[in-house]
Amino acid sequence: MANPEPKAIPLLLLLLKSFLLFVLLNPSLAQAGAITYNVVSFGAKPDGKTDSAKAFLNAWANACRSTAPAAIYVPPGRFLLGKVVFNGQCSNKAISITIDGTLVAPSNYNAIGNAGNWLLFQHVDGVSIHGGVLDGQGTGLWACKNSGKSCPSGATTLQFSNSNNIFIGGLTSLNSQLFHIAINGCHNVKLQAVTVTAAGNSPNTDGIHVQMSTGVTILNSKIRTGDDCVSVGPGTSGLWIENVACGPGHGISIGSLGKDQNEPGVQNVTVKTVTFTGTQNGVRIKSWGRPSNGFVKNILFQHAVMVNVQNPIVIDQNYCPDNKGCPGQASGVKVSDVTYQDIRGTSASQVAVRFDCSSKNPCSGIRMQDVKLTYQNQPAQASCIHADGTATGFIQPESCL
Ligand SMILES: *[C@@H]1O[C@H](CO)[C@@H](O)[C@H](O)[C@H]1NC(C)=O
Repeated sequence: MANPEPKAIPLLLLLLKSFLLFVLLNPSLAQAGAITYNVVSFGAKPDGKTDSAKAFLNAWANACRSTAPAAIYVPPGRFLLGKVVFNGQCSNKAISITIDGTLVAPSNYNAIGNAGNWLLFQHVDGVSIHGGVLDGQGTGLWACKNSGKSCPSGATTLQFSNSNNIFIGGLTSLNSQLFHIAINGCHNVKLQAVTVTAAGNSPNTDGIHVQMSTGVTILNSKIRTGDDCVSVGPGTSGLWIENVACGPGHGISIGSLGKDQNEPGVQNVTVKTVTFTGTQNGVRIKSWGRPSNGFVKNILFQHAVMVNVQNPIVIDQNYCPDNKGCPGQASGVKVSDVTYQDIRGTSASQVAVRFDCSSKNPCSGIRMQDVKLTYQNQPAQASCIHADGTATGFIQPESCL
């Protein structure tokens, strides 16, 4: 093997030095080793008026096609987008989307109101979203719904379907038409420092909805909305919720479950260190009063603070809206092994603990430990129907188990 010509060595060193400088000075390459696709260079306009969906989809197509990790960048500004579907499968498992701007839905709710979703990711693996504001512009649709007129059902702001290894951090969702964020059919999803904001009387604006998913974690988030802060649907296991501030809203709800005869259950859910402020419910389990093979088991509610909450602790197995399709029937959903540990604060109604279980499938293994809930500075009350379990430690209201 011949050594390189002596004259070629300085040239090689110079090239190497230039390359290193280029990598160091280009933050996207230095940080992730990824190529960055800026939506503006694909024609997106930060003017809040020009529909930028095509530009976002082109940036996505490039990132998705890349065999190396890829990054998408949304700079500051308001980007108007109609419905956008980000489809996998992709050629890499590391697409990071950094959003410094705001994505804005059309203000006319008819534009996406019947589309089900506004921003939908499906069949993706290893996608992360960092920062950004998603403005669903839902106020027009809420007004329509609240007026009793017939209106579109609305679009969920951000949904991941049939996807794995997803991270959503530092994202803000404003005024969704329907749900803010939905996780459906996913495995290994982490949501962190998410902010959800919508009016307390906005209809069906659940903060984060999880269903048919495993290994979902929701941390350090602040949810103020008109429906459930977090709702948990059938087929959810391994859900961890910690350090969440909820309210206004309808609380954290497992259910509604058992609407269908055949339904996968919910298990292994931990809800830890949550503050509920002025909410309709605190921690709730809810099932339709009709036959089903669904179940709820192995649930831990721990370290919750209730501030003026209508129903701080509730299991309602007789859900039957408008008395349609279920009058006189019992829920088939089996509720077992539910622990309430260190739940304290104030109730806005006299009955702070209500277990209204199925006559056909009584609740079993309900465990209460260190519960202190007051109503107007007096001990609140508890009510149990078809509920079996134990109470230990300090318990107020007095246990009815
Ligand atoms: C639920 O948790 C139990 C005990 O921690 C574990 O044995 C079981 O595999 C988990 N089930 C699911 C479906 O995650």
